[in-house]
Amino acid sequence: MKKIVVGITGASGSIYAIRLIEELLKKEIFVHIICTDNGKKVMKYETSIDLDEWFIGLKEKYDHVKLEDIDNLFSGVASGSYKFDAMIILPCSMGTLAEISMGLAKNLLCRAADVSLKENRRLIIVPRETPLNAIHLENMLKLSRLGVTILPAVPGFYHKPQSMDDLINFVVGKILDSLSIENTLFTKWEDHKND
Ligand SMILES: Cc1cc2nc3c(=O)[nH]c(=O)nc-3n(C[C@H](O)[C@H](O)[C@H](O)COP(=O)(O)O)c2cc1C
Repeated sequence: MKKIVVGITGASGSIYAIRLIEELLKKEIFVHIICTDNGKKVMKYETSIDLDEWFIGLKEKYDHVKLEDIDNLFSGVASGSYKFDAMIILPCSMGTLAEISMGLAKNLLCRAADVSLKENRRLIIVPRETPLNAIHLENMLKLSRLGVTILPAVPGFYHKPQSMDDLINFVVGKILDSLSIENTLFTKWEDHKND
């Protein structure tokens, strides 16, 4: 079974992470969830979802999911010897982005990202901030040069979204596409370019 780590931070847009996790679980992928304390607070503020309560419901439906303790550096995902296939951080705050680019590994989320880098594993960072200052841009460039996929939470409009769900699905679909995980979350350009 494939294993993917999903990191959630205190940037705006945790609704993307919720959708992504549900999609990964439907595809029989084992998901490790790591959420920062600020991530939990912003999620509750934006979506009214309490991460711990939401996870209880998730666990009733799926066996292949684990909510990690952000302070538990003894977790499997803190070690390079525990094989996971990819890590996605969404939404990624500029604070966490900076920590990762500096090689700080003080919590489990940053440590798992650091492990992804040192083990040359797939790492997708979905930053959310606007406007971006030079520090943000330099951090993204540095990570991009190390092979990290920087996939901003920027929905397109060429697929003619009709709802917020369509916008969320576009970003999540782009992440799945980037991992070569088949999905029909948004209409691919090839399907309607000759309409
Ligand atoms: C409602 C709300 C929305 C926020 N949105 C963003 C954001 O989109 N991007 C960002 O970098 N920080 C955002 N922040 C600030 C981060 O939460 C803050 O920098 C925090 O220290 C990030 O911590 P973390 O990376 O440990 O989760 C937001 C804060 C709040 C309260």
